[in-house]
Amino acid sequence: MNLAHLCLRTAVVLGFIGFSMGFGMGISQDFSLAPAHAHMNLLGWVSFALYGAFYALIPQAAVGMLPRIHYILASVGTVVMVAGIAGIYLGHGATFEPLAIGGSIAVYGSFILFVFIVFRATRQASLFGKPSVSEEPAEANGAAQGVWG
Ligand code: HEM
Repeated sequence: MNLAHLCLRTAVVLGFIGFSMGFGMGISQDFSLAPAHAHMNLLGWVSFALYGAFYALIPQAAVGMLPRIHYILASVGTVVMVAGIAGIYLGHGATFEPLAIGGSIAVYGSFILFVFIVFRATRQASLFGKPSVSEEPAEANGAAQGVWG
C-alpha cells in the first residue's frame, strides 16, 4: 500500500474514533473528553487527510525513509497523546501525563520532519530550468508506482 493511501485510511479510522467521542459526549451530555475529541479530530482526521492529499499530489515526496518515519511518529504520537489527554481529563493525571507529554513530543517531531519533506519536494532547481517535482510528468514523479513496494 502506498503512503498516501495509508494516510487516508489512518485519517478515516482516527476520524471515526474522534467523531464517535463527540457523538458520545452529545448523547451523555458529559463533555469531559472535549479536548481529547478535538485533538483526535484535528491531528487524526484533518492532519492525516492533508498528509494523504499531499503524498497523493506529489508521490515523489513519499519516497525514502523520512516519510515513513514521519508517518510512524505522527500516527503513534497522535494515539498516545490523545489517550494521555483523555486520561488527564478523566482525573488520572499522574498516570496519563507521561503519555500526553511523550505523544506530543512525537507529534511535534513528526511535523518538523513533514516541514522538511514538503520543502524538499517543492524546491525549484532553478526558476527557468529544471521543473520542480510537482511539475514533472506523473510517471516520472512516481505516480504509477506504489512507493511502499
Ligand atoms: C459527529 C461529529 C462530531 C460531534 C457529534 C461533535 C461533538 C462535540 C461536542 C459535544 C463537543 C463539546 C462541546 C462543549 O464542550 O460544550 C465538541 C467540542 C469540540 N469539537 Fe467536536 N464533534 C464532532 C466533530 C468534530 C470535528 C470533525 C472536529 C474538528 C475537525 C471537532 C472539533 C471540536 C473542537 C475543537 C471542540 C472544542 C474542544 C474544547 O473545548 O476543548 N469536532 N464536539
